[in-house]
Amino acid sequence: MSVENIESVMQETRKFAPSSEFASKARIGRWEDYETMYRRSIDDPGAFWGEIAQELHWFQPWKQVLDESEKPFFKWFTGGKINACYNCVDRHVANGKADQEAIIWEGEPGDTRTLTYAQLLDEVQRFANVLKQLGIGKGDTVAIYLPMIPELAIAVLACARIGAVHSVIFAGFSAESIKDRVQDGQSKLVITGDGAWRRGNVLKLKDVVDQGIKDCASVENVLNVARNPDGERFECAMQDGRDHWYHELASQVSAECPCEELDSEDLLFLLYTSGSTGKPKGIMHTVGGYSVYTYLTTRYVFDLQEDDVYWCTADVGWITGHSYLVYGPLQNGTRVVMYEGAPNHPQPDRFWEIVEKHKVSVFYTAPTAIRAFMKWGDEWVEKHDLSSLRLLGTVGEPINPEAWMWYHEKVGGGRCPIVDTWWQTETGGILLSPLPGVTPTKPGSATRPFFGVDAAILDAEGNEQKAGLLAIRKPWPSILRGIWGDPERFKNTYWNHWNGQYYFPGDGARVDDDGYFWIVGRVDDVVNVSGHRIGTAELESVFVEHPNVAESAVIGVPHDIKGQGLVAFVLLRGTDAEGSDALRQELNKMVEEKIGKFARPEKIIFSADLPKTRSGKIMRRLLRDIATGQALGNVTTLADPSVVDKLKAQYSS
Ligand code: WT7
Repeated sequence: MSVENIESVMQETRKFAPSSEFASKARIGRWEDYETMYRRSIDDPGAFWGEIAQELHWFQPWKQVLDESEKPFFKWFTGGKINACYNCVDRHVANGKADQEAIIWEGEPGDTRTLTYAQLLDEVQRFANVLKQLGIGKGDTVAIYLPMIPELAIAVLACARIGAVHSVIFAGFSAESIKDRVQDGQSKLVITGDGAWRRGNVLKLKDVVDQGIKDCASVENVLNVARNPDGERFECAMQDGRDHWYHELASQVSAECPCEELDSEDLLFLLYTSGSTGKPKGIMHTVGGYSVYTYLTTRYVFDLQEDDVYWCTADVGWITGHSYLVYGPLQNGTRVVMYEGAPNHPQPDRFWEIVEKHKVSVFYTAPTAIRAFMKWGDEWVEKHDLSSLRLLGTVGEPINPEAWMWYHEKVGGGRCPIVDTWWQTETGGILLSPLPGVTPTKPGSATRPFFGVDAAILDAEGNEQKAGLLAIRKPWPSILRGIWGDPERFKNTYWNHWNGQYYFPGDGARVDDDGYFWIVGRVDDVVNVSGHRIGTAELESVFVEHPNVAESAVIGVPHDIKGQGLVAFVLLRGTDAEGSDALRQELNKMVEEKIGKFARPEKIIFSADLPKTRSGKIMRRLLRDIATGQALGNVTTLADPSVVDKLKAQYSS
């Protein structure tokens, strides 16, 4: 955790209270109401969550709200029978929303598709029947590698409908990453597409899948979705017997497919995320608790109202897309905008054009996008009528006060509250956030814990501190249920602090005199590049596969737009420490192939040596100091202190 960051946020004193107009219409608009609810959620979580859960449809009520007997393997709403797809779709069709828009989709070239809740139900049932026809049933894992087209949401919901476990792989990941995830999850089916538009180019996803699953014995079938259901197909190879066009099978199945009545603790999905060591881990979320928590957080954090048009710009390939593009908003029966392409295509005002065109009222994006818009210039925002907006949100990384203020003034016209939401793949839903009708906001702070969340800043011994490690002291309904196939890693990663009593998220934070939380960043070897988590160990293991590389150390450094960027120190074999641009390109290519383009480092520095302790441990702290130009910390433990001077000279050259 960087001291510099702590100091910069400590100097932030601006405070923005919600307007009385916003508060008067908000779902929670009085501080006393919030406090009463919060107290109850902490003092009597059973009663609090039991009441909330009743707002969803259960085929059979639960017997116990929270079962802590196998801590840290918590269970919620045990004995209950529920289906997440039913709560997202069928429930609204049954309750008079059949003809309301559910998904308002826009493709990058400007084509649009709108699905009402009734149409979504129809599409989801067909999709579910196609899955069944391909032999997929309850408990089977289905990998989904699709672009941001409506079928991505439909495929996710179709899996949920029949109790299949979806494992969505962000479409920016490489063939190797697909292989790792498909093999680990033992996916029987892979769903992909013939193409997607990104900055005017067609991404050929099916080709990447074909390469990725060559050695994946578990895969029986590949389902290929056409980007243009009624139009032109993008060319792709189809393997006889294994590959199927979705639209061909869909035309032959029945339009009705009942929901599977699932146990509350049945697995809903796996989503892979990076840790500080080893390969990405398959985070497990189960149906009941995840449904209840994403339902409630969406409702209150985004203050959803009947006439809202809600747009979360995240890709469904990440947890934000799962929880706050698909499950959360659809369970609340809102109108969800979904966009296929880049924010700056064909011009840097694409997002604002979409906001104006669809009259978006709630807008949720990442600090990295906000900083990019700032750089592109105010004129792109000012060109558009953004008066439909009433609430803004951010997620994924700490937001610097400067970007917060720009978002507030330029996008929100000074009138929209901003909810800075802190959470993780593992938490399933938002844990820290303002409630827009009651919480005065401060630029850069995620403010306070959500209902049922007992957060604290602790030192290693578990004493409360003003700055230190963020800890969550009580389980909440959408807490991860484990790491797929690795219960030991689950315990070691999240429960090895504080005698296994509290959840350890891996973030450093501080708390101010108002009890507001300020997240500083990861305290482990995880780097957050444009809101995407990358383990430095993953990159290091890519580099050492190159025959000329002996060793490498990767660190995160501050980056103006991306929040953090990656810098790689690479030690070459033999005496050739100079390296070359050609070698740099080879290494970048390897990163693209093994992980994905988004994980390419900003800088690769070839070096003859790395700073190590006498016991041979690389001192990353020193590498970070070198890269950020900070005064060097203690170097007396180094085996060879002169290494640092050489590296410094190389870094600045
Ligand atoms: C890590 C989780 C949550 C969905 C997107 C990322 C960082 C997330 C914030 C925020 C400061 C944040 C944390 C966290 N993070 N939101 N509002 N302020 N930091 O999910 O890939 O699981 O990454 O993102 O460091 O641990 P993820």
